[in-house]
Amino acid sequence: MVRYRLLFVCLGNICRSPMAEGVFRRVAEEEGLIHLFEIDSAGMGDWHIGQAPDTRAQEAAHSRGVDISGQSARQVTRGDFHAFDLLLAMDGSNYAELTELAPKGARHKVRRFLDYAPHTGAKDVPDPFYGGRDGFDHALDLIEEAARGLLAELAGAEKREKREA
Ligand code: 4NP
Repeated sequence: MVRYRLLFVCLGNICRSPMAEGVFRRVAEEEGLIHLFEIDSAGMGDWHIGQAPDTRAQEAAHSRGVDISGQSARQVTRGDFHAFDLLLAMDGSNYAELTELAPKGARHKVRRFLDYAPHTGAKDVPDPFYGGRDGFDHALDLIEEAARGLLAELAGAEKREKREA
C-alpha cells in the first residue's frame, strides 16, 4: 500500500529533480520498500514541459545504474500540494517559491531535500544546467545522500507506526 507520495522539485525538471526521482526509486527498490511510495518530479518553470531529462543528466545517472530516460518534464501545480505528502525542493529558491505557491495549510509539506543529508553540510543541490559533467556528478553525490536519509526517516516512521498499531 502506498504510504508516502513524494514530489521532487527543481527549476526546469530536466536535471536535478529527475535525477532525484530516479535515485530515490532505485534506493527504495534496493531496500525492498518501493511499494510504500508514489514518486514523481516537477519544475517551477514551464520552459521544458514534455521534454526528456537533459542528456547530461541521463548519462550521469546511467553511469550509476539509474535510468531516467523515460521521464517527461512538467510544471508544479497547486494541485500537487493535495496529491503529494512531501514536496522536496532542490535549493533555497525552489523552496521559497514552493512555500509561496502552497495553499493555506499545506506549507508544512514543503521541505528542503538536503535537510535529509545534514552531514554533507550543503543546503542546496547546485544547478548543474550551465556547467559541465562534474556538476551533474556532484549533484548526484548530494542526491544519493539525501535519498538515503529521507528513506531512512520515512521507513523508521513506518516501522514505529506498525509497532504501535
Ligand atoms: P534543473 O536545471 O532545475 O535542475 O532542471 C535547469 C534546467 C533548465 C533551466 C534551469 C535549470 N533553464 O533555465 O532552462
